[in-house]
Amino acid sequence: MIVGIPKEIKNNESRVGMTPAGVFELIKNNHTVYVQASAGEGSGFSNNDYQKAGATVLDTIAEVYAISEMIVKVKEPIEEEYGLIKEGQILFTYFHFASSEPLTKAMIKAKAICIAYETVEDEEGTLPLLTPMSEVAGRLAVQQGAKYLEKPVKGRGVLLGGVPGVAPGKVLVLGAGVVGIQAAKMAAGLGAHVTIMDINMKRLRYVNDVMPPHVVTEFSNEFNIRKHIKNHDLIIGGVLLKGAKAPNLITRDMLKEMRPGTVIVDVAVDQGGCVETTRPTTHEDPIYIIDDVVHYTVANMPGAVPYTSTIALTNVTLPYCLKLANLGWEDACNKDACLKKGLNIIAGKVVYKEIIEAFGWEKAFA
Ligand SMILES: NC(=O)c1ccc[n+]([C@@H]2O[C@H](COP(=O)([O-])OP(=O)(O)OC[C@H]3O[C@@H](n4cnc5c(N)ncnc54)[C@H](O)[C@@H]3O)[C@@H](O)[C@H]2O)c1
Repeated sequence: MIVGIPKEIKNNESRVGMTPAGVFELIKNNHTVYVQASAGEGSGFSNNDYQKAGATVLDTIAEVYAISEMIVKVKEPIEEEYGLIKEGQILFTYFHFASSEPLTKAMIKAKAICIAYETVEDEEGTLPLLTPMSEVAGRLAVQQGAKYLEKPVKGRGVLLGGVPGVAPGKVLVLGAGVVGIQAAKMAAGLGAHVTIMDINMKRLRYVNDVMPPHVVTEFSNEFNIRKHIKNHDLIIGGVLLKGAKAPNLITRDMLKEMRPGTVIVDVAVDQGGCVETTRPTTHEDPIYIIDDVVHYTVANMPGAVPYTSTIALTNVTLPYCLKLANLGWEDACNKDACLKKGLNIIAGKVVYKEIIEAFGWEKAFA
């Protein structure tokens, strides 16, 4: 199959759909790969790296789309790309269709085969192509939180690890899922005292089993949250209710109970956030302050570390890319139930129920 890797053109997106290592595997399987010039630059991969792996570098995005049977990307296509997509072309990328009717309509019109990373789902109901980005965001949450706890950026002036003779900082993690566990692990590694909360006892039991004693689990409820926000320095939001807006575990009035300079990193911002005062920010302007509480609420945190994120993404997408390239999309999806769940639009027809429901299109697709 002919596989194309275009450069991402969405604002501030430095990741790329495939690493040179991924290209190497495709070539080994007798496929042909075209990469747009400088596509990997933002992630630290040169044109030469891709050429050495066996890819051909093309100057323009139009050439990559025109020649490829399958396009492997990171973000959903944006308007400038709509006209480049060919009928029957496989697009394998994050789409998040339910949040954009114009994008959905454009892909229906393009008659492409749209396979969405975010809906590929394994037997346990987990989302293997989203997990690595949650891992990145969870770990990064502590790095960012530690930075914004510094006084010059309006934090409390607390060093998370403390020093001999001074107690370490305290980190409260809401949600013991992928984000929460990675955050707790990083904070514990710095020597901070960590409290991690969830409503799922299985998750709490697991954390309790695997984490060191300075990571303490507690059941998540308003009483416990109100108790802890008063004396924790960094609060990390990593809750998720599948398919729904995140619950507001920290309400506006609670900010007044926190000490000035407390930092909130609300990773759940992309699902509306678990803090009432959360609104999405960008890497250029990542924080804002309300009631002396610093809010870090960047909606695409992994974009800050594209080198790590691109490799983490290719690690999990590549096995599916290989299946799609080796077998073609129909055979690959028939043989792999997890990949089949990624099918969102097939040649102009929406096949993913949640998209139809999101736009109230039931009649149109009945
Ligand atoms: N901002 C970013 O760049 C970025 C990057 C990756 C993920 N995310 C987001 O981070 C959030 C968490 O993702 P995840 O992969 O860790 O999800 P996950 O499903 O692995 O974990 C979510 C956890 O929240 C728990 N939870 C639900 N209700 C709760 C409550 N009331 N109190 C405490 N815990 C509760 C669940 O039991 C679960 O353990 C999602 O909204 C995801 O989209 C954001």
